[in-house]
Amino acid sequence: MRAYHTPVMLAECVEYLRPRPGGVYVDATLGGGGHALGLLRKQGGIRVYGFDQDPEALAEASQKLAEYGDQVELIGTNFSRLRTELALRKQKSIDGILFDLGVSSHQLDEDARGFSFDQDAPLDMRMDRGQGHTAAEAVNTLSQAELRKIFREYGEELNAGRIAARIVRERADKAFETTADLARVIEAVVGKGSRESLKSKARIFQSLRIHVNRELEVLAPALRDAINLLSAGGRIVVMSYHSLEDRIVKTVFKQAADGCVCPPGAMHCVCGRHKQLALLTKKPQNASAAEVSDNVRSRAAKLRAAEKTMGER
Ligand SMILES: C[S@@+](CC[C@H](N)C(=O)[O-])C[C@H]1O[C@@H](n2cnc3c(N)ncnc32)[C@H](O)[C@@H]1O
Repeated sequence: MRAYHTPVMLAECVEYLRPRPGGVYVDATLGGGGHALGLLRKQGGIRVYGFDQDPEALAEASQKLAEYGDQVELIGTNFSRLRTELALRKQKSIDGILFDLGVSSHQLDEDARGFSFDQDAPLDMRMDRGQGHTAAEAVNTLSQAELRKIFREYGEELNAGRIAARIVRERADKAFETTADLARVIEAVVGKGSRESLKSKARIFQSLRIHVNRELEVLAPALRDAINLLSAGGRIVVMSYHSLEDRIVKTVFKQAADGCVCPPGAMHCVCGRHKQLALLTKKPQNASAAEVSDNVRSRAAKLRAAEKTMGER
């Protein structure tokens, strides 16, 4: 049987988070629980809150982490609710948090989820199938301009306009239902069987997934909440797999590391912003060549890590 998901840059994540005895950690994207397990193995007696909006991920992780009993609490919701969920549990601060963004290998491989153009399946793509609109609804109802924007901005697809126009033409005859319906239209525009066609399909599918799950909208506010929740010396590690995600992580980290933004000659600080973070990675860190050759998914990973400072200006 195929592994649920091989955790990316596991040793690096555990090293950056350096779990401390009695510490409280959050895995904001639990998936199959591989990173959470790494933390629990590294340091006895820690507590881990694991968030995932996909019930299948929670089921997998609850098995994998079962031996750690009530050291682990699984929270089945979007990490946009991080602050609220921790407040409900009277958890005022945390010592470390990991975001391993995007989808797991299991979600991509599983026939029924519609994330992949390799398998014919209902065009769904929701990580949480109890919430929001499916990719089919997006493709069947968004305007040509909206589709083009999604394909261009989230997918950086050069044929975005032509593919959006073709979708709008074809859906007038028959609504899109399956991944094969969408793949066929992309091939009709960019050609079939070539490397370019494969890349276009990957970009269009990824861009729809990002749209359907509002992946970019929720990221910056959740990162800011996470930084506010960290105790002094606590650490945040984020792995992203898409350039727009990495740009958001970079910007939020930089703002938190810069602190006061008043002009250099100002007598008093009027912006009220405190320096909150010291960056541990000036540039994003990549997986080693050995890891990439074992696990191709790690190739796109960009890891950024930072430590909470005492809050000086
Ligand atoms: C790359 S996988 C994480 C894999 C995990 N680190 C492991 O070792 O198995 C990302 C997971 O995060 C979940 N996810 C992505 N965005 C989320 C969000 N905004 N809120 C909650 N879960 C999210 C996905 O459902 C998926 O299971």
